Amino acid sequence: MKVEALPVIKGDFNLKNYDEMYREFNWGEIEKQFSWSETGKVNMAYEAIDRHAQGERKNKVALYYRDPSREEKYTFKEMKEMSNRVGNLLKQAADVEKGDRVFVFMPRSPECYFTILGAIKLGAIVGPLFEAFMEGAVKDRLEDSAAKVIVTTPELLERVPLEDLPALKHVVLVGENIKEEGPIIDFYTRMKSASKDLEIEWVDRNDGLILHYTSGSTGKPKGVLHVHNAMVQHYQTAKWVLDLKDDDVYWCTADPGWVTGTSYGIFGPWLSGVSNVILGGRFKPETWYQTIEEYGVTVWYSAPTAFRMLMGAGDELVKQFDMSSLRHILSVGEPLNPEVIRWGMKVFNLRVHDTWWMTETGGQTICNYPCMEIKPGSMGKPIPGIKAAIVDDQGQELPPYRMGNLAIKRGWPSMMYTIWNNQAKYESYFMPGDWYVSGDSAYMDEEGYFWFQGRIDDVIMTSGERVGPFEVESKLVEHPAVAEAGVIGKPDPVRGEIIKAFVALRDGYEVSEELKDDIRNFVKKGLAAHAAPREIEFRDKLPKTRSGKIMRRVLKAWELDLPTGDLSTMED
Ligand code: PRX
Repeated sequence: MKVEALPVIKGDFNLKNYDEMYREFNWGEIEKQFSWSETGKVNMAYEAIDRHAQGERKNKVALYYRDPSREEKYTFKEMKEMSNRVGNLLKQAADVEKGDRVFVFMPRSPECYFTILGAIKLGAIVGPLFEAFMEGAVKDRLEDSAAKVIVTTPELLERVPLEDLPALKHVVLVGENIKEEGPIIDFYTRMKSASKDLEIEWVDRNDGLILHYTSGSTGKPKGVLHVHNAMVQHYQTAKWVLDLKDDDVYWCTADPGWVTGTSYGIFGPWLSGVSNVILGGRFKPETWYQTIEEYGVTVWYSAPTAFRMLMGAGDELVKQFDMSSLRHILSVGEPLNPEVIRWGMKVFNLRVHDTWWMTETGGQTICNYPCMEIKPGSMGKPIPGIKAAIVDDQGQELPPYRMGNLAIKRGWPSMMYTIWNNQAKYESYFMPGDWYVSGDSAYMDEEGYFWFQGRIDDVIMTSGERVGPFEVESKLVEHPAVAEAGVIGKPDPVRGEIIKAFVALRDGYEVSEELKDDIRNFVKKGLAAHAAPREIEFRDKLPKTRSGKIMRRVLKAWELDLPTGDLSTMED
């Protein structure tokens, strides 16, 4: 099968020859660039910020921040000082020490970034939480990690069930007129008196850095722990894949609540010393184009859902803005439709480069590079230093075009270090042959390009966000009217998938539109808006195995009019 490829673009890229680099590269060379090569110790926040603040980039803008009510910028020197202040605040007022879990639960804002960096400087493990999380989701994460401190806003505090979280000792509130009492600490007042000099906690490469909770097909969300060593991969992929150079203005649209927003919204760009644009507030096509025009964004990293929404806003809109600063566009999170690539060529005259990776891989793993041909619909090739393959269920590598498990050989630098409190779960990701099994199915063509086919498990990707069906089902059955619930991802042209719930009601409840809305809002309030089912269908009974497990595969077959397959395990 020969696919029409988009030709290599001409330019002076950091990665000049993929094949040669893939053959020759070894991580050892890159590791020498970080402080541990001299002292044996390291700290991500030092490498990302302080190192530049002490050198030539001192007065260079590190952060351009903008939302509907604020517009600010901070140099590397200022970023160093602000994060130092937060570090001092956390140390003095909240007693934060190395290894403590510090959660950051607030909308994107400069304070959010100062706090993440400040906590890292103390050697704490940061748990970033997406602002849309509701009480149930917040509680699960703080409880599982036994978080000691949360930094949040007065509005979001309502969703932190303090009385249910005995390990949580301090609550730092970022807001006006905060009264300090009980666990409450006033961020702004304390920041004023906090020193801008901080003694950094130097840690080992494999000490904890960040904890991202993510969904699987069963059970509650799992805490994927990443360590400082991940910087090796963040730094190198920012070079090869993002192609960052000193004069770039870079914009990653992801929130730090998701891994893209930390690995490539914080670490990758700042390890590279570039100016980083952060846009707060909600998605609006005009605002997005304006951001590119006003800041002169050169490298832009976003997601298929966002590109599809921009496409939907029409080509007339983009023509009203000056997009000429853009030189490189990338995408992550879901399959990138060839149609989006064609749209990119038409309106920006640039290729959109797909990148494949996941929370567990910590950094980009299979990508399209500026120096290589792009086959629209393919995720690209593994980054140098990584071996990827398609394997069968025994861990045997499969030949080109055979569909199987997309797997990566254990041991890349940004690989998750463990699953918090659950080493057994961590080990379960690996197969004989030291393969990390991603949960995605894919095939490889004869030129080594990888093609995404789908998830092997039931995990749903909706608007680029990963939702575990079990978490939604568990919330649904907490609703007084719901007896049973089964949740699937239903294909959707804009969002990739939407969440659809099949619900069987308890006796005495009548099917109605109001009840549907009520159930939907119940999930919204308990988990998060993006986890609430857009569609709910009532059924008298749901298909179950004899052991009582809801058969999502059958629900999916019903929905999509597909054959239901083997039903031998189904109850009568
Ligand atoms: O199914 C794959 C999909 O997103 C999953 C990982 O989700 P998460 O951990 O939230 O991380 C997303 C951003 C790093 C994968 O298992 N996925 C991610 N990138 C792509 C993708 N599916 C197709 N093409 C991609 N480029």
